[in-house]
Amino acid sequence: MKNVGFVGWRGMVGSVLMQRMIEERDFDAIRPVFFSTSQHGQAAPSFTGQSGTLQDAYDLDALSALDIIITCQGGDYTNEIYPKLREIGWSGYWIDAASSLRMEDDAIIILDPVNSAVIHQGIDKGIKTFVGGNCTVSLMLMSLGGLFANDLIEWASVATYQAASGGGARHMRELLTQMGMLHNSVAKELENPASAILDIERKVTGLTRSGTLPTDNFGVPLAGGLIPWIDKQLDNGQTKEEWKGQAETNKILGTSSIIPVDGLCVRIGALRCHSQAFTLKLKKDVSIPEIEQMLASHNDWVRVIPNDRELSMRELTPAAVTGTMNTPVGRLRKLNMGPQYLSAFTVGDQLLWGAAEPLRRMLRILL
Ligand code: HSE
Repeated sequence: MKNVGFVGWRGMVGSVLMQRMIEERDFDAIRPVFFSTSQHGQAAPSFTGQSGTLQDAYDLDALSALDIIITCQGGDYTNEIYPKLREIGWSGYWIDAASSLRMEDDAIIILDPVNSAVIHQGIDKGIKTFVGGNCTVSLMLMSLGGLFANDLIEWASVATYQAASGGGARHMRELLTQMGMLHNSVAKELENPASAILDIERKVTGLTRSGTLPTDNFGVPLAGGLIPWIDKQLDNGQTKEEWKGQAETNKILGTSSIIPVDGLCVRIGALRCHSQAFTLKLKKDVSIPEIEQMLASHNDWVRVIPNDRELSMRELTPAAVTGTMNTPVGRLRKLNMGPQYLSAFTVGDQLLWGAAEPLRRMLRILL
């Protein structure tokens, strides 16, 4: 059995990873060692029934005794520890949720239902570093994988609707606190059906602009609105999140010529499901039934939702998809621009396929 170290298992992505590993009985197949950056020496979790002690996540000797390390601790930890481990000659497998190493030549972005060939070629070539992709990119590829696999996409333009969880646990709390404060401010008026809705709106807008809502994490109020910017600003006008769309998609797929992917990334008040609206330019005119068939047969988690009002409202929403492994795609129709222009709308849980799931599946591939 392989010795597998876990760092950052207690955070939000780490907790989802642990939950999925318990559900899939992954711990039965490994000898887990749990690490902590702050509480080493205390009792380790007993997901598998055995007891143990938390190891020091900065102890290079303890880390280098492992066959595989899985970290959800974040980019700062990776940047500090990974180079040191490699420098002292550690040649184990490093599986990482953080973005720091994603674009390195000797790292592969993992999403095995989409790029298992790339992953296996990498393993055969001796690649030892495997990194989870950006959540919007992974979720797009899980939903639209069938069109990419059939080499049908000339380019993809996207508008995202990204959940608070993409920012982190504190962002989710901040959003909910803002929601609660806004509601509280007009709770009485809402109870009275005779109250004027524009008076209620004015009060809510006033509170939103008052500077009293907590905004330490998002920087501005999100509840009841949106933020058309995610991550750092780049010199070319893109956000870092928008830049990742093309860079990571093409790296995951191992394309020989770049498929352009670009658009606008927007934060909305969903909790943990990212949605995305696509305009796709196809390389040729393919009928909608053929497109649906390609999409539906690509992997076990994609669901094609017929372009129907009731079904779209019931099944193609964060409310329906949150906490599930499903990555539905719908609103499929040819656009007025011509028969090669297709619209699509995707929804996916950004903590599952967007973060934790590819990591545990990579572990399984290595066992
Ligand atoms: N950067 C993403 C977001 C997180 O902010 O929603 C998933 O990679």
